[in-house]
Order: sequence, then structure tokens, then C-alpha cells
Amino acid sequence: MMIVGDMRQEDIWNAEAARRYDTPGIGMFAPEVLGPTVDRLAELAGGGRALEFAIGTGRVAVPLAQRGVPVTGIELSRPMIDQLRTKVDEATIPVVVGDMATAEAPGKYSLVYLVYNTISNLLTQAEQVACFRNAARHLTPGGRFVVELGVPALRKLPPGQQAVVWRNEPGYIGLDTYDVLRQHLISHHIRFDESGQVRLSRGPHRYIWPSELDLMAQLAGFELESRHADWLGSEFTAESDSHVSVYRIPPDRAEP
Ligand SMILES: C[S@@+](CC[C@H](N)C(=O)[O-])C[C@H]1O[C@@H](n2cnc3c(N)ncnc32)[C@H](O)[C@@H]1O
Repeated sequence: MMIVGDMRQEDIWNAEAARRYDTPGIGMFAPEVLGPTVDRLAELAGGGRALEFAIGTGRVAVPLAQRGVPVTGIELSRPMIDQLRTKVDEATIPVVVGDMATAEAPGKYSLVYLVYNTISNLLTQAEQVACFRNAARHLTPGGRFVVELGVPALRKLPPGQQAVVWRNEPGYIGLDTYDVLRQHLISHHIRFDESGQVRLSRGPHRYIWPSELDLMAQLAGFELESRHADWLGSEFTAESDSHVSVYRIPPDRAEP
């Protein structure tokens, strides 16, 4: 049986993880990944302020702020924030230390965004719903909540199989183990160095089907404005393994 209860986000996103997180120019930091992400978020902010839930080391927030969008963050891990602080100061990108399901950042925003599968770091449905409600609380009428999330790879799991290898390349294996009863998975990142030494990091997730995500949004007062397969606006299809979903508070909503 897979146990996720003993893996705390605070322990996973520790000083070592924060030190290794940034890979300037490659992987999730590659210009072809970050460029379209920042372009789309700047467009969706519509000239207003943005709030990033789980801002991390500022992979997205730093270039978005450089684009002229005022960005604030909420983040649980102090080591990740320390890494962000090597790039920008508190006046440029203020960060509230706390849980994105409950923490409050000052003011109202036209955009809240939560990228790179991070909503699934909340391990219960109740916390995920609370996260949507917290996003809604921070938005002005007409404001948007953008979620980037993988589609659970359940179609790749034949009966009796519990793991899916989603990447296998020299020096790296990415493997997810599933607990379909609890709707949990653990992502395993297995890295081999030149001497053959292995480094393993793991992270627990509660995976979410897009329709369940839409229902969480609805509970928090959002409407689905768009869903695409990526930041460039590619069509979302049955074969898509990820999506960028844009939820909107109706412009005529009364201020809470
Ligand atoms: C995959 S990283 C993403 C960081 C950044 N958003 C990015 O795109 O590079 C996940 C981040 O989520 C943070 N995190 C996990 N659970 C959180 C929670 N409940 N509230 C706030 N931050 C959380 C972790 O500390 C970590 O910095």
C-alpha cells in the first residue's frame, strides 16, 4: 500500500530541493517553456496584479514581473523563498509564507495562477476545494484563476499494474506509482550520475480529472473560460497529457 501521509510538503521542498530546483535555460526553465507561459499569463492579467500560489523560486514570477506585471506570491517553503530572494527582493515580489489553501495575501488581483501540477500537492479533495475558494477570495470580479495540471495517466495502467514510466532518458527515469483507491500518486525522480550513483526524490500528489477540477471551480463560484493543451493555445483533446485551464469569476459578481 502506498502511504503519502508521512510525506510533508515542507520536508520535500527543503534546502537541498531548493538548491537544485533552478536549471537556467533548460527543462522547465527553457525559453520555449517559459516564454509562452509568461506571454499567456501577462495577457490574462489584463493590466492588473497577479498572485502566484506556490511561487517557489520564482521560475515564472520573476520573468512575469520583469514583463511589468506586479506579482505577489504565497509559498509554504522558506528554502524555496530564500532561493527566490537571491534573484529579487521583497519590494519587487512580496511573498506571504503559508498554505495556498488558506493563506491570505494583501489586496485584490485580476489573476491568480497555480502552475506545474502544484494543485495536486494538496493531498485531499477538501484542501483542493479550499484552494479554489482561496483563489476566488483574492480576485476582483471578472478575475481569472489559471491552473496548469497533468491529466492522470490512468489509461496507461492495465489491470493489476500500479506504475507508469513517463520519462526514460540517459541519466533519468520518471516513474509514477498510483493508488487508484485513494486517488493518490507518488512521482519518483530517479537520477544517475556518471559514476552510477543513484539519487531519488519523491513527491506525493492527489491527482484530479479535469471534470473534478471544473466542479471544484464551480463550488468556488468560477466559470470555465478556456481549456487548452498548453500555453500556446493548442487544442485540448482526449490524447492531451496536460492542460491549462482558465477559470473566471463572472464580471457581475458582487464583491464578497
Ligand atoms: C513544483 S514547485 C512549483 C514552483 C513554481 N510555481 C514553479 O512553477 O516553478 C511546487 C511548489 O509548491 C510549494 N507548495 C507545496 N504545497 C504548498 C502549499 N500547500 N501552499 C503553498 N505552497 C506549496 C512547494 O513548496 C514548492 O515550492
